[in-house]
Amino acid sequence: MTGTERQRLLDAISERFLREFGAQPARRFFAPGRVNLVGAHLDYNGGDVLPMAVDRGVYVAATMRDDDRIRLVSLDQNRTFELTAGTVPPRGEPGNGWANYPLGVWHGFRARTGRARGFDLVYGGDLPMASGLSSSAAIEVVSALAFDAFYHSGYDRQQLALLAHRAENGYVGLRCGIMDQFASALAQPGHVLWLHCAGPRFEHVPFDGQKCEVLVMDTKKSRSLSKTHFNDRVAQCATAHETLRNHVRDLPHLASYEPSDLEAAQSAMDELLFRRARHVITEMTRIATGVAALRRGDYRELGRQLDASHRSTAIDYEVSCRELDVMTDAARAQSGVFGARLTGAGFGGCAIALIEPGIGSRVAEQVGKVFLREFGVEAGFDLLRVGTGPVEL
Ligand code: GLA
Repeated sequence: MTGTERQRLLDAISERFLREFGAQPARRFFAPGRVNLVGAHLDYNGGDVLPMAVDRGVYVAATMRDDDRIRLVSLDQNRTFELTAGTVPPRGEPGNGWANYPLGVWHGFRARTGRARGFDLVYGGDLPMASGLSSSAAIEVVSALAFDAFYHSGYDRQQLALLAHRAENGYVGLRCGIMDQFASALAQPGHVLWLHCAGPRFEHVPFDGQKCEVLVMDTKKSRSLSKTHFNDRVAQCATAHETLRNHVRDLPHLASYEPSDLEAAQSAMDELLFRRARHVITEMTRIATGVAALRRGDYRELGRQLDASHRSTAIDYEVSCRELDVMTDAARAQSGVFGARLTGAGFGGCAIALIEPGIGSRVAEQVGKVFLREFGVEAGFDLLRVGTGPVEL
């Protein structure tokens, strides 16, 4: 997104705020979305992940009120959500849609700090919604940043990430791991986040935009069923872990086991659970190889790990779909593409390709042709850059 486009978006948010609430917003904040390079579905299994915050995300214009009314508006919807502290439900309600994310964070602040002030809030962003780039985590993190600033609660970035994660997990009810909220809250310019989710421990690893670019490829296939499928995967991994603990050895996370442990437990596990566990355990090797490659600037090797990760998520974890498979295959067939995989939870949404700088439009054109021929759909393409962390504007 260019500076002018960003300014236009910010102006639209301020105008809407003025129209809805009759005044200019007091403060404005931003939090980025993310793509995950390797480490698919490892965060809730106590494994390692390698997300990169992108130069797109969610903005909020906010004013703290003197009473306890909460008014929430999204730039791309007409509806205004109006509640008071007393009517905020204790758990997210499906009818509240996206508003559950800020409400979950507001609820978390109330539980921790006892503060229950009202807010006027207008959200807007430049991430395709529900496409695997973590627009929900960006909404949560930007809300956490805003409430923290108005309340002067002084939480550090990790605490804000944990509050945001609690909103998704405890309030909205997606049994996800910590990756998306940490990726957004802890992002640093020019770096990806190597996150050891069991700690949590993390390190920022440089990503060289002169050597490698990230092309995001949107299948436009909606992921509406993903919450159920996602929670199923979490449950299957928990059962596989339980079997390993009972039959082989007691380790704290599924991602902590070795391939030889899995072989030893194979006869005690049904075939589906075995494949789920095999994805998790082998993905740990791919991420170790991928991080080592990134540290020495070997984007070709990193790309190979993306390809292998995609295969494993498709075959063993079954979170891909024909659209994502065709799209990533078409990308890999192009010269100058280091590797490609689905990003986010899968089940539709976006894939990413790591590519040599300067070839984005050629790859987009070729992949777009294949996709159109196969599915009759115009796929979306965009070059993403490493983003900054969350900020007050
Ligand atoms: C979603 C979840 C994350 C993570 C990914 C899969 O984005 O929110 O916590 O589990 O899927 O890697």
